[in-house]
Amino acid sequence: MAALKDEVLARLAAVPSPDGRPLTATGKLSDILVTDGKVFFSLTVDAAHVQQWESVRERAQAAVRALPGVESVMIALTAERGGGHAPHALSQPSPASGGGKSERGAAGATSPRSALRRPPMAPGARPGEGAPHSHGPGHGAAGIPGVAAIIAVASGKGGVGKSTVAVNLALALHDLGLKVGVLDADIYGPSLPKLLAIRERPEVISGTRLKPIVRHGMPVMSIGFLVEEETPMIWRGPMVMSALTQMLREVEWGTLDVMVVDMPPGTGDAQLTMAQQVPLKGAVIVSTPQDLALIDARRGIAMFRRVNVPVLGIVENMSTFICPQCGARSDIFGHGGARAEAERLGVPFLGEVPLAIEIREKSDAGAPVVASAPAGVHARHFRDIAARVRDGLGVASRPAPKIVIEA
Ligand SMILES: Nc1ncnc2c1ncn2[C@@H]1O[C@H](COP(=O)(O)OP(=O)(O)OP(=O)(O)O)[C@@H](O)[C@H]1O
Ligand SMILES: [Mg+2]
Repeated sequence: MAALKDEVLARLAAVPSPDGRPLTATGKLSDILVTDGKVFFSLTVDAAHVQQWESVRERAQAAVRALPGVESVMIALTAERGGGHAPHALSQPSPASGGGKSERGAAGATSPRSALRRPPMAPGARPGEGAPHSHGPGHGAAGIPGVAAIIAVASGKGGVGKSTVAVNLALALHDLGLKVGVLDADIYGPSLPKLLAIRERPEVISGTRLKPIVRHGMPVMSIGFLVEEETPMIWRGPMVMSALTQMLREVEWGTLDVMVVDMPPGTGDAQLTMAQQVPLKGAVIVSTPQDLALIDARRGIAMFRRVNVPVLGIVENMSTFICPQCGARSDIFGHGGARAEAERLGVPFLGEVPLAIEIREKSDAGAPVVASAPAGVHARHFRDIAARVRDGLGVASRPAPKIVIEA
């Protein structure tokens, strides 16, 4: 492996940078990772010079790809942000194959991913837009044509039910008559394929754009549609950001009132990228009632506030447990903590979702409660939350389909 890495470096030394110096002498190269014939590295350049560097990247890619033993090459072109932020990916090119470990995720390349090669920019967008000097949404973060509002469903902590809430919230907004799309931005551990029982792959249209999968009348996109489960992949910071941007901008979303984005847990690169590169209309924070989760929720709220994304409110998930046998209520994780926290932080409380076996079972079966039991009591919780989110966004509802509510 070390030998191959040396050969890669030797090839790169023969590629001139825009000022004529060998690429290896510019200080722009990251560490070179070589795994099973797959080569990864990034070039961190000044955003103003990205155009010149794109051709260097292409030459470097061709040079490395030509080496015997190299199966694929991924070179991410990234621009450095001021102020110690993570780099901003300007381009994620190349046969996007993977290898290595992610935090907890799974990935490997399959054919439609090759559609995700072009620089992730909206038509007319300039390189570096929305990145180095942006101060939050609206400051250079180009919108997605046809998409009126993008909202993030987030939390500081993992496993609190973001994906469950995101999908059911999207379905409930759709029930309210809105045109809704869903984007799974959890590229470390995508959930939408399972939650919506999607096994097919998106079609590539017009060469590089992807057609989202449509479920329950909503276009849906997830990195999980494009990669094999259980195949490890390195998602280094720039690649993470690039993949996200491309899923937003290189997918035929059509006309949407709301795009619901299921975020990965935490307040890292992916969240910051979303918050800075996408004009988020708002964020919905999901928390369980107990103190520990609330601390993380607070952190999530602070992050969105820092990048000027309005917090639409907090959802208390896994609130009161109602025993399906005897109907007794018990507050396993406590109750009301998120409402109190919302009051304390001055953000709206959007509602509670009980801890219910049916919610988990239906999610596991790929049939979220709002779609599979629209007249049930759980769907009603989600529709109440959706109505508050819609009101917070100031979006007018179209006439909603009639849903008969069970007691
Ligand atoms: N209200 C609920 N009642 C019962 N089970 C729930 C509820 N909400 C979520 N779950 C279950 O909890 C688990 C975690 O939920 P989910 O995957 O939505 O969380 P997440 O915050 O998206 O996790 P991650 O941080 O890993 O992305 C899933 O098995 C889900 O079915
Ligand atoms: Mg999730």
